[in-house]
Amino acid sequence: MATHKLLLLPGDGIGPEIMTEVKKIIAWFNARGGDTFETDQGLVGGSAYDAHGKSISEADMAKAMAADAVIFGAVGGPKWDKVPYDVRPEAGLLRLRKDMQLFANLRPAICYPALADASSLKREIIEGLDILIVRELTGGVYFGEPKEIIDLPNGQKRGIDTQVYDTYEIERIAAVAFELARTRRNEVCSMEKRNVMKSGVLWNDVVTATHAARFSDVKLSHMLADAGGMQLVRWPKQFDVIVTDNLFGDMLSDVAAMLTGSLGMLPSASLGAPDAATGKRKALYEPVHGSAPDIAGTGAANPIAMIASFAMCLRYSFEKVAEADLLDRAISATLDKGLRTKDIASEGSTVIGTSQMGDAIVAELNALSA
Ligand code: NAD
Ligand code: IPM
Ligand code: MN
Repeated sequence: MATHKLLLLPGDGIGPEIMTEVKKIIAWFNARGGDTFETDQGLVGGSAYDAHGKSISEADMAKAMAADAVIFGAVGGPKWDKVPYDVRPEAGLLRLRKDMQLFANLRPAICYPALADASSLKREIIEGLDILIVRELTGGVYFGEPKEIIDLPNGQKRGIDTQVYDTYEIERIAAVAFELARTRRNEVCSMEKRNVMKSGVLWNDVVTATHAARFSDVKLSHMLADAGGMQLVRWPKQFDVIVTDNLFGDMLSDVAAMLTGSLGMLPSASLGAPDAATGKRKALYEPVHGSAPDIAGTGAANPIAMIASFAMCLRYSFEKVAEADLLDRAISATLDKGLRTKDIASEGSTVIGTSQMGDAIVAELNALSA
């Protein structure tokens, strides 16, 4: 029986509130027998800055590098709006992604049957939706140099961010998208802006070449990213896997989140390359949403994105497919009972808080495995 080491990084705002709920799920799997999860906890974001002036300490960074998987809540909030840029809460998350080389961010947007009326879009548009956004996570304008604000001789300032992609970065994220498509409906749509960006031209060329060389059995299409955003809202079911860069992926996944009813529903997995010797990947699992300062402390946060991120951890870090399916079914069954946090409430549903939602999912785990 294996023991898996998890580092929990709750972060700020609703981060600790949703992490409390995932701990109930981890405890449930530990009590059930089989492999166990050993958890350690660290600070990230504003809470780390308050404790030691950095958005993640070297000690916690080392723990993240050594863990089998990192479970991440959310960071940021108005309290830290004025802290220096390189120690702002979000810098802790970006450092984790970069140092752990988590280049592949999987963001599945699934419309649970019970939530078909919770979206701002019509039922027929989102019913049965199951798409996967594969976002490049360690390159592009997030990390390109130069990245600075400089003083100009005329007294003006200039803000500079640089969009950079090398061939290998595009090739490896395209390969992840094609491989995942083979396990689904076998279709990939690549999104960039080759009409205005050189990095978009290269993106399109490399995705096309990778497809021809290794994945010609997968159906590939290309779309300009702005049109992609429009198509996601117009008829999202046309997509299976979408592969795109860091910034477009950030924006398109927030759009996709709302198709499912709420940002509080969208989980994600951030994966590195498999180690040549052990085959193990570094991985971090995080909801797509942020620290939701507007509802932090009210007990209203939806913990489902966080709990479904743990299901992705079971699936992608530990190959526990049956357990991951069980947890996904427990979430679905909870929603089928009409239990809703406020963000996904609709007429006739029962509105419950964060902690009750965690308890309800645990109750369904018990019921489903009885
Ligand atoms: P946000 O995702 O925190 O919130 C956007 C809206 O969605 C808010 O109205 C919020 O109440 C709602 N929402 C989000 N998650 C929810 C949940 N689980 N349950 C119910 N409602 C939920 O985005 P924002 O307000 O633009 O950003 C707030 C802070 O979070 C910023 O500092 C931002 O940088 C940070 N952020 C962090 C992450 C992360 O840690 N991964 C992701 C996005 C934003
Ligand atoms: C996300 C967030 C992050 C991003 C921020 C908090 C750095 O918006 O994970 O979607 O922009 O990648
Ligand atoms: Mn985002």
